[in-house]
Amino acid sequence: MSATFWSVIGGCGMSLPNKVIKNNDLAETLDTNDEWIRTRTGIEQRHIASQSDSVALLGTNAANNALLAAKVAAADVDMIILATTSPDHFMPATATKIQHQLGATKACAFDIQAVCSGFIYALSIADQFIKTGAMSNVLVIGAELMSRMVDWNDRSTCVLFGDGAGAVLLRRSLEPGILSTHLFTDGAGYDMLFVDHSDEKFKRGKIVMNGRAIYSTAINVMESSIKTALTHNNLNITDIDWFVAHQANKRIIDSVSTKLGIPSEKTVVTINSYANTSAATIPISLAVTNINKGDLVILSAMGAGYAWGSAAIRW
Ligand code: ACO
Repeated sequence: MSATFWSVIGGCGMSLPNKVIKNNDLAETLDTNDEWIRTRTGIEQRHIASQSDSVALLGTNAANNALLAAKVAAADVDMIILATTSPDHFMPATATKIQHQLGATKACAFDIQAVCSGFIYALSIADQFIKTGAMSNVLVIGAELMSRMVDWNDRSTCVLFGDGAGAVLLRRSLEPGILSTHLFTDGAGYDMLFVDHSDEKFKRGKIVMNGRAIYSTAINVMESSIKTALTHNNLNITDIDWFVAHQANKRIIDSVSTKLGIPSEKTVVTINSYANTSAATIPISLAVTNINKGDLVILSAMGAGYAWGSAAIRW
C-alpha cells in the first residue's frame, strides 16, 4: 500500500517596503481623515513601495525568510507558486525572477491570479502536488504592489491598500498538515472590483470598486466557506486555535468571527499595520502570529472575481 502524504507548513516569512504611510499622511493630500479610515476599516498605516521595489524583490525576500525558518535550501525547492495580481510584467511570470534570485535552480515557477484569494488558491495547488508524492518542497508566495494600481486621487479605494509579501515553505510529511482546501468562484461579481484598462491600452490601469457590494458578499461567503471546511473535517468552531482571514476590512473580519462565535483572541488582525495587501495578507498574518505545533488554523479569503475559499491546517 502506498504511503499517505500530507503538506505541512515548514516555515513562514515576510517582507515589507521600508516606507510607512500613516492615515494622517494621506489626509494631507486627500479629503479624508484618520478617524474615518480607522473606524470604517481598522487601518492605521500601510507600507508603500519605493521606485526601486518590485514584486520579485519583496517575494524573494519573503521566500528567503520562509526557507530560513524551514531550514530548507533553495536548491531543494521543487516548485514556486507566486500569487499576485500586480506582477512586475504581464509576461513572463514574476515567479521566474524569484526562482532565479533565490537560486532555486531545480524549481519550476509560475504565477497565479486569484486576487485576494490568491494565496489560498496557490496553497491548494501546491497541496495537490505534495499529496500525490510528486513534490517534496513547494514555496507558496503572496506578493503585491497594490500602490501601483490604486488611483491616489480616489479616497474610496486608495486608503485601503498596502504593499508587501509573505511566503510559506510547504514540505511533504507523513503527519497531517493541510487538512483541506475549498475554492469557489462566482464570476457574476466580475465588475464589482476590477482594474480598468479601457482608456490606457496596454498600460496598467486603476482599481474600480463597489465597496458595499463586496462588503456584504465577503461576510456571507467567508462564513460559509469556513463552515464547509469544518464540516469536511468533522471539526467544530471550538476546535479552532487561529482564524486567519484575508485582511480587507477589520469590520468584515469581526462580523465573520461574531457570526461564527470565534473569540477575538483567536482572530488574527494585522490590517491595522499593513492594510490590504491582497494575496499577501494571509501569509504575512501567518508570519507574525505565534502559532504552536498542533494548533488548528483556519484560513478564509474573498476578493475580486468573485473568488473565495478556505483552508484548514493542522500546524
Ligand atoms: N475618507 C472619508 N470619507 C470617505 C472615504 C475616505 N477615505 N471614502 C469614502 N468616504 C465617504 C463616502 O464618500 C461616503 O460619503 P457620503 O455619505 O457623503 O456619500 C461615506 O464616506 C460612506 O461611504 P461608504 O462607501 O458607504 O462607506 P462604507 O462604510 O461602506 O465603507 C469601505 C467603505 C471601507 C470601502 C467598505 O465598503 C469596504 O471595506 N468594503 C469592502 C471592500 C473590500 O474588501 N475591497 C477589497 C476586496 S479584496 C480584493 O480583491 C482587492
